[in-house]
Amino acid sequence: MSQGSSDVISSTGIAPADEPASTAELSRGGVPLLSVQDLSIGVRLPGGRTVSIVEGVSFDVDPGQRMGIVGESGSGKSLTLRAVAGLLPKPVEVLSGRVEYGGTDLLTMPAKRRRALMGPEIAMIFQEPMSALNPVMRVGDQIAEGPRRHLGLSAKEAGELAVSMMARTGIPDPVRRARAYPHELSGGLRQRIMIAMAVSCGPRLLLCDEPTTALDVTVQLQVLRLLERLCADTGTSLVFVTHDLAVVNQTCSELAVMYAGNIVESGRVKEVFRQPRHPYTRGLLESAPDFDRPDRELVPIPGFPPNVADRPSGCPFAPRCGYVRDHCRQSMPPLAEVAPGRQAACFESSRLTEVLA
Ligand SMILES: Nc1ncnc2c1ncn2[C@@H]1O[C@H](COP(=O)(O)OP(=O)(O)OP(=O)(O)O)[C@@H](O)[C@H]1O
Ligand SMILES: [Mg+2]
Repeated sequence: MSQGSSDVISSTGIAPADEPASTAELSRGGVPLLSVQDLSIGVRLPGGRTVSIVEGVSFDVDPGQRMGIVGESGSGKSLTLRAVAGLLPKPVEVLSGRVEYGGTDLLTMPAKRRRALMGPEIAMIFQEPMSALNPVMRVGDQIAEGPRRHLGLSAKEAGELAVSMMARTGIPDPVRRARAYPHELSGGLRQRIMIAMAVSCGPRLLLCDEPTTALDVTVQLQVLRLLERLCADTGTSLVFVTHDLAVVNQTCSELAVMYAGNIVESGRVKEVFRQPRHPYTRGLLESAPDFDRPDRELVPIPGFPPNVADRPSGCPFAPRCGYVRDHCRQSMPPLAEVAPGRQAACFESSRLTEVLA
């Protein structure tokens, strides 16, 4: 990765130790660990015009909670996650909103202090580990660098911790493998190295962007189990971006569905899957294979998502929606509570009462 690589590396735990991150200072009782409020992300064009890509996204993640974000390609999942990590690719930037971590806004925090949180408090795992690993550094040294800087461990202690993290992520023969360079390892092992790096300083929030998409199915399952176990062992919260509903079902308790830069539905995974309250969520579920019901016919969602630079007025899903009525094309439905703990951005949500199997 070119411009972003140092940012990516710092996100996985080896940022310079500018100032010690203070969990106690950041965390206050009863406050969600992460609270994203009315976040808009986009590009400022010359002349002052802005094009928003992500619009008014809000969600909370409590300590220990595991939240999935799903949606079609281009819906803004990665940009939302990168905005939380402070890793937006130029020229994309946060246009408005708040990203609070333990009640403190990360967006207005001095850059030095924010960087110091990356690794010990917040870590990110990417789809393609090669883009985040240093190709000319032994993987054991890469894992050890975060604990040396952030936890003040000696080189020997950090090296031992790296080996034990590798063992914990299920890497066979970790002492030998610690001396390997990334290109000497398989994709599955490299992804485990990245997970070991990300969790080496014991972050309280783990941001995962399609961390298993590039892996084959058996390795994918192992990596998912590993992430679940690591989070359960340490009480780490997870925000997990994927286009794969089955992965969300296995890994997460909460779900946000994104469409064209907006959250259109959210709630507990089991409840959203059982009874979706937005036609887009319903479409996603009906178009995805269900291994419990292999005979079920797959129904693709007709049409394509809108270009974010040229959204239709009204609900962005209206041109593809089987429940559309005139008012849907005129104004954008707000994300509103449709049942306890359930939100949907749909004027016609009450018509979606059918329970899916
Ligand atoms: N570096 C960039 N410069 C300009 N626009 C961008 C940039 N990165 C993303 N975008 C725009 O933002 C939209 C959302 O991108 P994002 O990467 O968040 O999508 P996504 O939901 O993660 O999709 P995918 O499932 O394909 O990863 C893209 O369709 C594109 O229009
Ligand atoms: Mg993405």
